[in-house]
Amino acid sequence: MTTEILPAGEKAVALAAQLLRAGQPVAIPTETVYGLAANALDAEAAARVFEAKGRPKDNPMIVHIDMLDRLPQVVSAFPREAQLLADAFWPGPLTLVLPKAAGIPDAVSAGLATVGVRLPAHRATRAVIAAAGLPLAAPSANRSGRPSPTSARHVWHDMAGRIPLILDGGDCPVGVESTVVSLAGGPTVLRPGFVTAEEIAAVLDRPVATADGAHYAHTQAPPSPGMKYRHYAPEAELLLLDGTLEQFIHYLQENAAEKPGACALCFAGEEARLPLPALAYGQAGEAASQAAGLYAALRRLDAEGAKYIYARMPAGGGVGQAVRNRLLRAADFNVISL
Ligand code: TXA
Ligand code: MG
Repeated sequence: MTTEILPAGEKAVALAAQLLRAGQPVAIPTETVYGLAANALDAEAAARVFEAKGRPKDNPMIVHIDMLDRLPQVVSAFPREAQLLADAFWPGPLTLVLPKAAGIPDAVSAGLATVGVRLPAHRATRAVIAAAGLPLAAPSANRSGRPSPTSARHVWHDMAGRIPLILDGGDCPVGVESTVVSLAGGPTVLRPGFVTAEEIAAVLDRPVATADGAHYAHTQAPPSPGMKYRHYAPEAELLLLDGTLEQFIHYLQENAAEKPGACALCFAGEEARLPLPALAYGQAGEAASQAAGLYAALRRLDAEGAKYIYARMPAGGGVGQAVRNRLLRAADFNVISL
């Protein structure tokens, strides 16, 4: 299959809509990461996405809508707390897990009675949904297990020859996937993201649990199926080092400076002080910039042939929670406290 890559203008959006209505997968930009979209009401279209990604069939997809009027096609209930969160954070990087509507096939929800739904902020995403006239199931547009794509070029790297079309909407501003919140039982953050647990608790005016702190890699039934798989991983072996810049430098001098293929993933301005080739993924203490740069940096180190990546661990509060979560999973929880 030949894969076209087109700027996400009017013509390309119309072509994307046509392909989606015909049951084909199309890669689309969103404000978080690029998604690999398919008609969320069509089991065969969903199967093509799993196939192109190499994704385990028991990992459900998030369904994207362009307006609240489309909710009844996706969910069977929209409780008051969902409405509060939608009012506060939609359009935006928040996914709500709710009871699914009858029209959502098991292939999309991976057989669960619930479905994740999100109304994205990116104009091109909403334009494609509107033009297709369909809710779109879309996981991140990477091959399963790899870092999520934050540019059309990243999608091309993983998906060329596997899908007919990639819409290029430029770099994704958020850079990490949406916050996933379950409202079944007490509100629980299943995956941290740009919308933080603190912000959600403030809107709901009650405590919000977080389910993703623990190591679910080998659990049979984690709160969210995605938790049991390795995600976001570069080809290189990734080790996280939690400590100060001075401790990081010391560790690298002792353990990595002479190692062929070793490189450092650090914060902006630190490169020149490190004893090995280094790439910054964001500003120290600015979680939003780290989120925006993380996946591109991991992919670039792979492209440059890195064998070992020694990464600076970010501070954990707010959006930093999401950055830590992605790095921990990318490293398969391979972390050293300095
Ligand atoms: O920002 C995002 O959410 C991006 C863009 C494309 O919108 N999408 C994305 O999808 O990250 P994906 O498939 O890569 O991640 C979806 C995550 C998985 O960890 C999955 O297990 C979880 O959401 N999930 C989806 N539906 C769920 C459900 N019904 N219950 C629990 N977890 C669910
Ligand atoms: Mg993903």
